[in-house]
Amino acid sequence: MAPLVLSVSPDAPEPEPIARAAALIRGGRLVAFPTETVYGLGADALDPAAIALIFAAKGRPQTNPLIVHVPDADEARSLVTEWPDAAERLAERFWPGPLTLILPKRDVVPAAVTAGLAAVAVRVPAHPVALALLTAAERPIAAPSANRYTLLSPTRAEHVERGLGDRVDLILDGGPTDVGIESTVLDLSGKHPVLLRPGMVPADAIERVIGPVERAAASLSDDAARLSPGLAARHYAPAARVVLVDRAREGEPPGTLIRQMPHPVALLVFGSSRSEPLAERVIAMPPDPETYARSLYETLHALDAEGFRTVLVERLPDDDEWAGVRDRLERAAHVE
Ligand code: TXA
Ligand code: MG
Repeated sequence: MAPLVLSVSPDAPEPEPIARAAALIRGGRLVAFPTETVYGLGADALDPAAIALIFAAKGRPQTNPLIVHVPDADEARSLVTEWPDAAERLAERFWPGPLTLILPKRDVVPAAVTAGLAAVAVRVPAHPVALALLTAAERPIAAPSANRYTLLSPTRAEHVERGLGDRVDLILDGGPTDVGIESTVLDLSGKHPVLLRPGMVPADAIERVIGPVERAAASLSDDAARLSPGLAARHYAPAARVVLVDRAREGEPPGTLIRQMPHPVALLVFGSSRSEPLAERVIAMPPDPETYARSLYETLHALDAEGFRTVLVERLPDDDEWAGVRDRLERAAHVE
Protein backbone atom coordinates (compact mmCIF):
# COMPACT_ATOMS: atom_id res chain seq x y z
CA MET A 1 0.00 0.00 0.00
CA ALA A 2 1.20 3.50 -0.78
CA PRO A 3 1.62 5.92 2.11
CA LEU A 4 -0.22 9.23 2.26
CA VAL A 5 1.92 11.97 0.65
CA LEU A 6 1.03 15.64 1.12
CA SER A 7 2.80 18.40 -0.80
CA VAL A 8 3.88 21.35 1.23
CA SER A 9 5.64 24.55 0.23
CA PRO A 10 9.24 24.42 1.48
CA ASP A 11 9.34 28.20 2.01
CA ALA A 12 5.87 28.90 3.41
CA PRO A 13 4.35 25.60 4.64
CA GLU A 14 0.56 25.54 4.41
CA PRO A 15 -1.16 25.13 7.83
CA GLU A 16 -3.40 22.21 6.80
CA PRO A 17 -0.82 19.52 5.96
CA ILE A 18 1.26 20.67 8.93
CA ALA A 19 -1.73 20.36 11.29
CA ARG A 20 -2.48 16.89 9.94
CA ALA A 21 1.12 15.80 10.41
CA ALA A 22 1.25 17.30 13.92
CA ALA A 23 -1.93 15.44 14.91
CA LEU A 24 -0.37 12.16 13.75
CA ILE A 25 2.80 12.85 15.76
CA ARG A 26 0.71 13.63 18.86
CA GLY A 27 -1.22 10.40 18.25
CA GLY A 28 1.96 8.34 18.41
CA ARG A 29 2.29 7.78 14.64
CA LEU A 30 5.15 8.18 12.15
CA VAL A 31 5.58 11.18 9.84
CA ALA A 32 8.40 11.64 7.33
CA PHE A 33 9.35 15.27 6.83
CA PRO A 34 12.07 17.30 5.11
CA THR A 35 14.94 18.85 7.04
CA GLU A 36 17.70 20.87 5.40
CA THR A 37 19.96 17.78 5.43
CA VAL A 38 17.85 14.71 4.53
CA TYR A 39 14.27 13.55 5.14
CA GLY A 40 13.62 12.40 8.71
CA LEU A 41 11.29 9.67 9.99
CA GLY A 42 9.67 11.45 12.91
CA ALA A 43 7.81 10.40 16.05
CA ASP A 44 7.00 11.93 19.44
CA ALA A 45 10.36 11.84 21.23
CA LEU A 46 8.72 11.55 24.65
CA ASP A 47 6.57 8.51 23.74
CA PRO A 48 8.44 5.17 24.02
CA ALA A 49 5.78 3.31 22.01
CA ALA A 50 6.12 5.76 19.11
CA ILE A 51 9.92 5.44 19.30
CA ALA A 52 9.58 1.67 19.01
CA LEU A 53 7.69 2.20 15.73
CA ILE A 54 10.68 4.11 14.30
CA PHE A 55 13.06 1.23 15.03
CA ALA A 56 10.62 -1.27 13.52
CA ALA A 57 9.99 0.79 10.36
CA LYS A 58 13.71 1.22 9.72
CA GLY A 59 14.75 -2.28 10.73
CA ARG A 60 17.26 -0.48 12.93
CA PRO A 61 19.03 -2.15 15.89
CA GLN A 62 17.78 -0.92 19.28
CA THR A 63 21.40 -0.09 20.17
CA ASN A 64 21.47 2.84 17.71
CA PRO A 65 20.29 6.11 19.33
CA LEU A 66 18.09 8.77 17.67
CA ILE A 67 18.48 12.53 17.19
CA VAL A 68 15.82 14.64 18.89
CA HIS A 69 14.66 17.67 16.88
CA VAL A 70 13.52 20.82 18.66
CA PRO A 71 12.33 24.24 17.41
CA ASP A 72 14.92 26.30 19.31
CA ALA A 73 17.81 26.22 21.78
CA ASP A 74 15.50 26.78 24.79
CA GLU A 75 13.68 23.54 23.99
CA ALA A 76 17.01 21.76 23.60
CA ARG A 77 18.05 23.02 27.03
CA SER A 78 14.84 21.63 28.55
CA LEU A 79 15.90 18.09 27.54
CA VAL A 80 19.41 18.13 29.03
CA THR A 81 20.94 18.44 32.50
CA GLU A 82 23.96 20.47 31.39
CA TRP A 83 24.22 23.31 28.92
CA PRO A 84 27.90 24.24 28.76
CA ASP A 85 29.20 27.46 27.33
CA ALA A 86 30.31 25.54 24.24
CA ALA A 87 26.71 24.46 23.58
CA GLU A 88 25.48 28.02 23.97
CA ARG A 89 28.02 29.42 21.56
CA LEU A 90 27.58 26.67 18.96
CA ALA A 91 23.79 26.97 19.12
CA GLU A 92 24.07 30.73 18.61
CA ARG A 93 26.41 30.30 15.66
CA PHE A 94 24.99 27.22 13.88
CA TRP A 95 21.30 26.76 14.86
CA PRO A 96 19.01 26.38 13.12
CA GLY A 97 21.35 24.24 11.02
CA PRO A 98 23.03 20.90 10.31
CA LEU A 99 24.81 20.49 13.66
CA THR A 100 23.73 17.92 16.28
CA LEU A 101 24.93 18.30 19.89
CA ILE A 102 25.14 15.45 22.39
CA LEU A 103 24.55 16.37 26.05
CA PRO A 104 23.59 14.55 29.28
CA LYS A 105 19.86 13.82 29.11
CA ARG A 106 17.08 14.59 31.56
CA ASP A 107 14.74 11.85 32.75
CA VAL A 108 11.92 13.05 30.46
CA VAL A 109 13.86 11.66 27.49
CA PRO A 110 12.99 7.95 27.28
CA ALA A 111 15.86 5.46 27.34
CA ALA A 112 14.62 4.08 24.01
CA VAL A 113 15.58 7.36 22.27
CA THR A 114 19.21 7.24 23.44
CA ALA A 115 19.49 3.43 23.24
CA GLY A 116 20.13 3.44 26.98
CA LEU A 117 22.96 6.00 26.80
CA ALA A 118 23.13 8.77 29.40
CA ALA A 119 23.34 11.53 26.76
CA VAL A 120 20.88 12.69 24.12
CA ALA A 121 21.50 14.10 20.64
CA VAL A 122 19.61 17.34 19.93
CA ARG A 123 19.36 19.62 16.93
CA VAL A 124 17.34 22.54 15.56
CA PRO A 125 16.78 21.90 11.83
CA ALA A 126 16.95 24.81 9.37
CA HIS A 127 13.89 23.93 7.33
CA PRO A 128 10.58 25.83 7.48
CA VAL A 129 8.56 22.59 7.18
CA ALA A 130 10.45 20.88 10.01
CA LEU A 131 10.18 23.98 12.22
CA ALA A 132 6.44 24.39 11.47
CA LEU A 133 5.86 20.72 12.33
CA LEU A 134 7.83 21.00 15.59
CA THR A 135 5.88 24.10 16.57
CA ALA A 136 2.48 22.61 15.70
CA ALA A 137 3.21 19.24 17.37
CA GLU A 138 4.28 21.03 20.56
CA ARG A 139 6.73 18.28 21.42
CA PRO A 140 10.25 17.25 20.49
CA ILE A 141 10.43 14.91 17.50
CA ALA A 142 12.90 12.03 17.34
CA ALA A 143 13.89 11.45 13.73
CA PRO A 144 16.54 9.30 12.11
CA SER A 145 16.99 9.54 8.37
CA ALA A 146 13.86 8.12 6.69
CA ASN A 147 15.46 5.06 5.11
CA ARG A 148 15.80 1.36 5.92
CA TYR A 149 18.81 0.57 8.09
CA THR A 150 22.22 0.88 6.32
CA LEU A 151 20.69 2.13 3.06
CA LEU A 152 20.97 5.58 1.46
CA SER A 153 19.34 8.51 3.21
CA PRO A 154 16.48 10.15 1.30
CA THR A 155 16.81 13.65 -0.14
CA ARG A 156 13.35 13.59 -1.76
CA ALA A 157 9.88 12.41 -0.72
CA GLU A 158 10.00 9.82 -3.57
CA HIS A 159 13.07 8.23 -1.96
CA VAL A 160 11.16 7.86 1.32
CA GLU A 161 8.16 6.37 -0.45
CA ARG A 162 10.31 3.89 -2.38
CA GLY A 163 12.31 2.90 0.70
CA LEU A 164 9.71 2.77 3.48
CA GLY A 165 6.37 2.37 1.65
CA ASP A 166 3.45 2.20 4.07
CA ARG A 167 5.73 1.71 7.08
CA VAL A 168 5.25 5.48 7.46
CA ASP A 169 1.78 7.03 8.07
CA LEU A 170 2.36 10.31 6.22
CA ILE A 171 5.09 11.87 4.10
CA LEU A 172 5.33 15.66 3.89
CA ASP A 173 6.76 16.39 0.45
CA GLY A 174 8.71 19.65 0.60
CA GLY A 175 10.86 18.99 -2.45
CA PRO A 176 14.57 18.13 -2.55
CA THR A 177 16.68 18.90 0.51
CA ASP A 178 19.36 21.54 0.39
CA VAL A 179 22.39 20.23 2.31
CA GLY A 180 22.09 16.67 1.02
CA ILE A 181 24.01 14.71 3.70
CA GLU A 182 23.28 14.17 7.41
CA SER A 183 24.18 16.67 10.13
CA THR A 184 27.55 16.96 11.83
CA VAL A 185 27.36 15.15 15.21
CA LEU A 186 29.41 16.63 18.07
CA ASP A 187 29.60 15.05 21.52
CA LEU A 188 29.73 17.67 24.30
CA SER A 189 28.93 15.22 27.11
CA GLY A 190 32.52 14.32 27.96
CA LYS A 191 35.64 16.19 29.06
CA HIS A 192 36.53 17.28 25.52
CA PRO A 193 34.33 17.91 22.49
CA VAL A 194 34.43 14.93 20.10
CA LEU A 195 33.32 14.94 16.47
CA LEU A 196 31.37 11.69 16.03
CA ARG A 197 30.12 12.24 12.48
CA PRO A 198 31.53 14.83 10.07
CA GLY A 199 29.05 16.87 8.05
CA MET A 200 28.67 20.18 6.31
CA VAL A 201 29.42 22.13 9.49
CA PRO A 202 33.14 21.32 9.32
CA ALA A 203 35.30 20.62 12.36
CA ASP A 204 37.51 23.66 11.73
CA ALA A 205 34.46 25.95 11.75
CA ILE A 206 33.45 24.45 15.12
CA GLU A 207 36.99 24.93 16.42
CA ARG A 208 36.89 28.60 15.54
CA VAL A 209 33.98 28.91 17.99
CA ILE A 210 34.96 26.58 20.88
CA GLY A 211 38.61 25.60 20.41
CA PRO A 212 40.09 22.12 19.78
CA VAL A 213 37.78 19.25 18.78
CA GLU A 214 38.80 15.59 18.75
CA ARG A 215 37.98 13.88 15.47
CA ALA A 216 36.78 10.40 16.46
CA ALA A 217 35.07 9.78 13.16
CA ALA A 218 38.14 10.41 11.05
CA SER A 219 38.49 6.66 10.59
CA LEU A 220 36.09 3.75 10.44
CA SER A 221 37.61 2.41 13.64
CA ASP A 222 35.88 0.20 16.19
CA ASP A 223 36.36 3.03 18.68
CA ALA A 224 34.25 5.40 16.64
CA ALA A 225 31.58 2.74 16.30
CA ARG A 226 31.51 2.19 20.06
CA LEU A 227 31.18 5.92 20.77
CA SER A 228 28.36 6.36 18.29
CA PRO A 229 26.76 3.08 17.23
CA GLY A 230 25.33 4.61 14.06
CA LEU A 231 28.85 5.04 12.74
CA ALA A 232 29.35 1.30 12.24
CA ALA A 233 31.14 0.61 8.97
CA ARG A 234 28.85 -0.13 6.00
CA HIS A 235 26.16 2.51 6.00
CA TYR A 236 24.70 5.11 3.67
CA ALA A 237 25.03 2.54 0.90
CA PRO A 238 23.19 2.34 -2.41
CA ALA A 239 22.31 -1.02 -4.03
CA ALA A 240 25.14 -0.59 -6.52
CA ARG A 241 28.67 -1.49 -5.47
CA VAL A 242 30.59 1.73 -4.72
CA VAL A 243 34.36 1.75 -5.32
CA LEU A 244 36.65 4.69 -4.61
CA VAL A 245 39.30 5.24 -7.27
CA ASP A 246 42.25 7.58 -7.49
CA ARG A 247 41.73 10.68 -9.53
CA ALA A 248 42.83 9.82 -13.04
CA ARG A 249 44.69 12.18 -15.29
CA GLU A 250 43.32 12.75 -18.76
CA GLY A 251 44.23 9.81 -20.97
CA GLU A 252 44.77 7.51 -17.96
CA PRO A 253 41.33 6.00 -17.32
CA PRO A 254 40.81 3.19 -14.78
CA GLY A 255 40.18 0.83 -17.71
CA THR A 256 41.23 -2.50 -16.15
CA LEU A 257 39.03 -1.94 -13.10
CA ILE A 258 36.03 -0.96 -15.21
CA ARG A 259 36.39 -4.18 -17.27
CA GLN A 260 36.35 -6.29 -14.07
CA MET A 261 33.30 -4.71 -12.41
CA PRO A 262 29.66 -5.71 -12.98
CA HIS A 263 28.04 -3.48 -15.61
CA PRO A 264 26.42 -1.05 -16.13
CA VAL A 265 29.18 1.07 -14.59
CA ALA A 266 28.94 4.76 -13.73
CA LEU A 267 32.02 6.89 -13.09
CA LEU A 268 31.72 9.98 -10.91
CA VAL A 269 34.62 12.18 -11.90
CA PHE A 270 35.89 14.95 -9.69
CA GLY A 271 37.05 18.37 -10.70
CA SER A 272 36.96 18.39 -14.46
CA SER A 273 34.78 16.43 -16.84
CA ARG A 274 36.36 13.89 -19.15
CA SER A 275 35.30 10.94 -21.26
CA GLU A 276 35.51 7.25 -20.30
CA PRO A 277 34.39 5.00 -23.15
CA LEU A 278 34.31 1.81 -21.01
CA ALA A 279 31.75 3.21 -18.54
CA GLU A 280 28.09 3.38 -19.51
CA ARG A 281 27.78 6.74 -17.75
CA VAL A 282 30.23 9.46 -16.78
CA ILE A 283 29.04 12.15 -14.37
CA ALA A 284 31.10 15.26 -13.65
CA MET A 285 30.61 15.96 -9.95
CA PRO A 286 30.71 19.55 -8.63
CA PRO A 287 34.12 20.90 -7.55
CA ASP A 288 32.88 22.49 -4.29
CA PRO A 289 31.81 20.54 -1.17
CA GLU A 290 28.37 22.19 -0.74
CA THR A 291 27.19 21.38 -4.26
CA TYR A 292 28.82 17.94 -4.17
CA ALA A 293 26.99 17.08 -0.92
CA ARG A 294 23.69 18.33 -2.31
CA SER A 295 23.94 16.06 -5.35
CA LEU A 296 25.64 12.95 -3.89
CA TYR A 297 22.67 10.89 -2.58
CA GLU A 298 20.51 12.32 -5.34
CA THR A 299 22.94 10.93 -7.93
CA LEU A 300 23.28 7.55 -6.18
CA HIS A 301 19.49 7.18 -5.81
CA ALA A 302 19.06 7.95 -9.52
CA LEU A 303 21.75 5.43 -10.56
CA ASP A 304 20.12 2.77 -8.34
CA ALA A 305 16.73 3.44 -9.89
CA GLU A 306 18.28 2.96 -13.34
CA GLY A 307 19.85 -0.36 -12.35
CA PHE A 308 23.52 0.61 -12.32
CA ARG A 309 25.56 -2.14 -10.64
CA THR A 310 28.85 -0.33 -10.08
CA VAL A 311 29.61 3.26 -9.19
CA LEU A 312 33.26 4.29 -9.36
CA VAL A 313 33.91 7.50 -7.45
CA GLU A 314 37.06 9.56 -7.77
CA ARG A 315 38.63 10.39 -4.41
CA LEU A 316 38.02 13.80 -2.84
CA PRO A 317 40.42 16.38 -1.35
CA ASP A 318 41.72 15.75 2.15
CA ASP A 319 40.60 18.90 3.99
CA ASP A 320 37.93 19.43 6.68
CA GLU A 321 35.34 20.99 4.39
CA TRP A 322 35.26 17.72 2.38
CA ALA A 323 35.21 15.46 5.49
CA GLY A 324 31.43 14.96 5.46
CA VAL A 325 31.11 13.74 1.87
CA ARG A 326 34.38 11.80 2.13
CA ASP A 327 33.02 9.97 5.19
CA ARG A 328 29.73 9.01 3.47
CA LEU A 329 31.56 7.77 0.37
CA GLU A 330 33.99 5.71 2.45
CA ARG A 331 31.10 4.10 4.31
CA ALA A 332 29.16 3.47 1.10
CA ALA A 333 32.26 1.79 -0.35
CA HIS A 334 33.00 -0.27 2.76
CA VAL A 335 32.96 -4.02 2.17
CA GLU A 336 32.55 -6.22 5.28
O1 TXA B 1 20.81 15.31 9.45
C1 TXA B 1 20.49 14.48 10.29
O2 TXA B 1 21.12 14.34 11.36
C2 TXA B 1 19.28 13.60 9.99
C3 TXA B 1 18.04 14.49 9.97
C4 TXA B 1 16.77 13.71 9.79
O3 TXA B 1 18.00 15.28 11.11
N1 TXA B 1 19.15 12.55 10.96
C5 TXA B 1 20.02 11.51 11.02
O4 TXA B 1 19.71 10.58 12.00
O5 TXA B 1 20.96 11.38 10.27
P1 TXA B 1 20.35 9.13 12.07
O6 TXA B 1 19.59 8.43 13.13
O7 TXA B 1 20.32 8.51 10.72
O8 TXA B 1 21.81 9.36 12.57
C6 TXA B 1 22.01 9.76 13.92
C7 TXA B 1 23.45 9.66 14.30
C8 TXA B 1 23.86 8.22 14.42
O9 TXA B 1 25.19 8.08 13.96
C9 TXA B 1 23.78 7.96 15.92
O10 TXA B 1 24.59 6.92 16.36
C10 TXA B 1 24.22 9.31 16.47
O11 TXA B 1 23.66 10.25 15.58
N2 TXA B 1 23.65 9.52 17.80
C11 TXA B 1 22.37 9.82 18.12
N3 TXA B 1 22.21 9.91 19.45
C12 TXA B 1 23.42 9.69 20.01
C13 TXA B 1 23.90 9.61 21.36
N4 TXA B 1 23.09 9.81 22.39
N5 TXA B 1 25.21 9.36 21.55
C14 TXA B 1 26.03 9.14 20.50
N6 TXA B 1 25.64 9.18 19.19
C15 TXA B 1 24.35 9.43 18.95
MG1 MG C 1 20.69 7.40 9.01
